[in-house]
Amino acid sequence: MGNMDQFGYHAWLQHRPVAGLPGFKISGLRCFAYEELKIGLNRLTGGKNGDTIINLSISKHLQPSSYTLAGSVSGISITGGDEIGLLYGVYGLLSRLGQDETIIDVTEKPAVSMRILNHWDNMDGSVERGYSGKSLFFKDGQIGYDPERLQDYARLLASIGINQICINNVNVYHNSAKLITDHLPDLARVADIFRPFGIKLIVSVHFESPALLGGLETSDPLDTAAANWWKETAAAVYTRIPDLAGFLVKADSEFRAGPMSLGRTQAEGANVIARALKPFGGIAYWRCFVYNCMQDWRDTVTDRPKAAYDYFKPLDGHFDDNVLLQIKHGPSDFQVREPNSPLLGAMDSTAQGLELQITQEYTGQQKDLYACAVQWEEVFSHPVTDTSDTRDIIGKKIDAIVAVANTGSDANWTGHLLAQANLYAFGRMAWNPALTAAQVTREWAALTFGTNPLLLTPLVDMVLNSRAVYEKYNAPLGIGWMVNINHHYGPSVDGYEYMKWGTYHRADSKTIGVDRTPAGTGFTAQYHPSVRAMYENKATCPEEIMLFFHRLPYDYRLKCGRTLLQYIYDTHFEGVEDVEGFIQIWESLKDYMPDDAYSSVKERFSAQLLNAMEWRDVVNSYFYRKTGIADEKGRKIYS
Ligand code: GCU
Repeated sequence: MGNMDQFGYHAWLQHRPVAGLPGFKISGLRCFAYEELKIGLNRLTGGKNGDTIINLSISKHLQPSSYTLAGSVSGISITGGDEIGLLYGVYGLLSRLGQDETIIDVTEKPAVSMRILNHWDNMDGSVERGYSGKSLFFKDGQIGYDPERLQDYARLLASIGINQICINNVNVYHNSAKLITDHLPDLARVADIFRPFGIKLIVSVHFESPALLGGLETSDPLDTAAANWWKETAAAVYTRIPDLAGFLVKADSEFRAGPMSLGRTQAEGANVIARALKPFGGIAYWRCFVYNCMQDWRDTVTDRPKAAYDYFKPLDGHFDDNVLLQIKHGPSDFQVREPNSPLLGAMDSTAQGLELQITQEYTGQQKDLYACAVQWEEVFSHPVTDTSDTRDIIGKKIDAIVAVANTGSDANWTGHLLAQANLYAFGRMAWNPALTAAQVTREWAALTFGTNPLLLTPLVDMVLNSRAVYEKYNAPLGIGWMVNINHHYGPSVDGYEYMKWGTYHRADSKTIGVDRTPAGTGFTAQYHPSVRAMYENKATCPEEIMLFFHRLPYDYRLKCGRTLLQYIYDTHFEGVEDVEGFIQIWESLKDYMPDDAYSSVKERFSAQLLNAMEWRDVVNSYFYRKTGIADEKGRKIYS
């Protein structure tokens, strides 16, 4: 049985005839959207013919990429602002039909023009922080892929509104640096596959390419020869791929070269690449994940979360208009719980992108169930000022929503079948950040598994609950990390405690946490005064993030009345019980899906249960040994 015959392969585009759908007849504009509609109707009606008309048209009164759907007794009309808008309209209609929804008049337009996936794929076929098999794009040091599969991937992504993808890792090594020189013809063929679906390619580039590939003495951004190398190289790339979205750069970050190591600013580094891309309409996507990864743990002044703001905020106004700063949503690194980065929304004259992570690096590695949508809803709701939250500035100060992909060569794309929900949610929430986690999770579940409420309600509730459950058995109250080093799965409370990465909880026998108020590292001063005040005051700081901002004694009373220590014990016991509950729920859903789908998820839950138990016992023993204070309820803690 090939990949395509498996249930998981079709994700939310299942071949499932929907009861009660009439046969359709398509009229109007013949274009790519027309062909996609035919394919989609075939899967939803089982190829039924009929005379309910679906009319396709384009109207210049609508914005590009937007569409309207209108239903009447005589049929349905889909109108796009342009061909891509029409295509989104087709997917929008198919989604509504697949969810058994009545078509009433709707107008949809994306909140942000760039909805981007970053693949962290290496040219040897491995995927950095990938948990779903091998790369979909690379093999044995070359661009290598299954064209049919890539087309199916493009359809999946376009159906949720994703319109740009970077196919190679931000950590660019020597061979992938050459993608923009030696591999152009192959790269152009990948772009050809994605183009009809409205998806443009981005390439990650090496900052020192002028020296590395061009043989120049320096890659100094102020050196004319280096600048010319970028210009000539960009021109050659655009000859092959005229609609390339741009170059993505991780510079001065985790041992990657960058302008700072050459005595230049981040703006000077970004601008030299931006200027080369400018004549072709390209963008320099410049990551802000810049921090000192060689910190001494004894140093309590340096505070990693402060780094992005400290480096970039003073440069506001110095970046060219086709530089887009790509900012991780939190100031640390994709932890289960973080406040938003204070850099988001802080710059008035610089284009910004919000970077999320779909791949579950710190959130269970697609063995544990984890609903990213729940976390993203919080990210979007995080205040920026006293009158606005992040959602409000998307499409205004935030021009792109980006996420690290969770897909790979596994037959079901995401390893854990239910992790498809995270990819789906990303596309939908980037398109419309006002959608709630509950809405998008329900949509995904209905499209994937069908609309039977006996399945849908427990499944959706379980997925939505999964973020809270994972958090219960992880590092407590926003302190983060406590993971095994390097691979980041499973607990090691002191794993990063004495290392150079700037990731410390500083637990002793009486207290834990980092004071990030002015009395401590002063990180809070980077926020708008109202946000700063909320975090600095223990009474208003949300408790789930308390240890990120405050250093507290273990007998600190939380609002629930429990001490901090008892809260840690309780949540870690509960986390395991909740995973046991997930397994029961999943077992009750067995009859609603094919056996392979059921059993693959069942296996993941068994691994998750072991992980939750490991976290419970390691974390609880750690704090018991530190404090000598027993669990009030007398449960088993290893002394
Ligand atoms: C994390 C992750 C790395 C990745 C880096 C990044 O640190 O562990 O694998 O390269 O983020 O975002 O660049």
